[in-house]
Amino acid sequence: MNRHERRSAAKKQKQQRLTPMQAFKLAIELHQQQRLEEAEKVYRSLLDLQPKHPDALHYYGVLLHQIGQSEQAIAYIKQALVIVPDYLDALNNLGNVLKETGDMQGAVDVYRQVLNLSPNHAGVHNNLGAVLRHLGAYQESISLLTKALALSPNNPDVLQNLGNSYRANGDYQQAIDAYRQSLAIKPQQKTIYQRLWRLLLATGQQEASQEVLKQWVAVDPNNHIAQHHFLAHTGYTPERASEDYIQETFDRFAASFDNVLDRLEYRAPSLVGQAVAKLFSESEKLACVLDAGCGTGLSGISLRAYTDKLIGVDLSQGMLNKAQQRKIYDELVKADLVKYLSSYTHLFNLIISADTLVYFGALEAFLQAASQALTTKGALVFTLEKHDAENGFQLNYHGRYAHTPRYVTDCLVNAGFELHVMETVILRKEMGEPVVGIVVTAICK
Ligand SMILES: C[S@@+](CC[C@H](N)C(=O)[O-])C[C@H]1O[C@@H](n2cnc3c(N)ncnc32)[C@H](O)[C@@H]1O
Repeated sequence: MNRHERRSAAKKQKQQRLTPMQAFKLAIELHQQQRLEEAEKVYRSLLDLQPKHPDALHYYGVLLHQIGQSEQAIAYIKQALVIVPDYLDALNNLGNVLKETGDMQGAVDVYRQVLNLSPNHAGVHNNLGAVLRHLGAYQESISLLTKALALSPNNPDVLQNLGNSYRANGDYQQAIDAYRQSLAIKPQQKTIYQRLWRLLLATGQQEASQEVLKQWVAVDPNNHIAQHHFLAHTGYTPERASEDYIQETFDRFAASFDNVLDRLEYRAPSLVGQAVAKLFSESEKLACVLDAGCGTGLSGISLRAYTDKLIGVDLSQGMLNKAQQRKIYDELVKADLVKYLSSYTHLFNLIISADTLVYFGALEAFLQAASQALTTKGALVFTLEKHDAENGFQLNYHGRYAHTPRYVTDCLVNAGFELHVMETVILRKEMGEPVVGIVVTAICK
């Protein structure tokens, strides 16, 4: 037996000599110190001796969820509840595990059980309120969270949750107030700043939104999203959004992108699809087509029919994973689209880019690279947001660029394109207002 084996055998012997009460205390201590492997061993040996120890079953279940074994976790916590049906903490934790594994309705049922047993449990009012928001029951969510706040005044987590539910219900000013109160109590809650800033902007409170942006950058100086928007507010216009900003924004957005954009009446993919249909027939079967900034693949759906080889390129792995699930691309590449295009010559018959060049101010580098990567007479179809001021492009407060038709036309001509069509369109809605853009079709000379 080597030294290590002797030490662990001694430890085991010592554990075996502990009374069940001492063993449970030790397991909880280790658990609280996040020494999960050691805690797991102690829970296990305790449960070997006392398989119906309700607390050990409950907390071992909680630990299993923490290490990703959520199904087993649920089974253990349920065993604890068979032994002690009114075990409030176990019920609450069961609700939490169900919620985190996506079983929202299951979580609601369990939280309601807790409230029947303990009608003034602030934590469960808070938890139930949050889950009901996920299920779209905003009014009930708000009233539960209001009660949670009455039971636990000035609780920053409850205030944050309440802000989220007000926001989901369209009660923007109440959401702003709740977020502000929450931050006043706990300024380090980094995630609130972005929501608060957006709401202030959307409700026309520009000065206040700038203040929040400053606070956000101060609290979270390495956050690329905060930095990007801060630049937009200061009036400084970088040539394009940083790769870090794009990745962070879209990796976070990927899961909800399709649903959110659907609610915003997003039309860029269908507008691009219509422009492509005017140029090509599906029977032509183009040799190679690129979806530049493919995102979750909404534009790829209509492109698939035109080609035997459809490639998507995007900077966000989260978005690419969603696109992969559609099974419509022959290749998906994680790269900056300008760098990607620069490495090909005369390859693509068609390049489309829907709602992606809005993250570029200067278009020269992209158009040069696209012109090189397209075959002669190859087509480029893209959308942009439109503005009519003096400058060729501007970075708007919401973080996307807008371009003048004049600038776009000049850049196209300089890069060797012939402008075929430029149509003014509504791309989508933003806070209920239409976003005006252009759909551009250009042919490589
Ligand atoms: C608003 S989404 C549009 C996605 C898709 N084209 C659509 O219409 O549904 C913009 C996408 O462009 C990608 N993107 C932005 N800048 C990029 C760049 N420089 N290189 C590659 N992808 C980029 C983002 O990651 C995001 O997936």
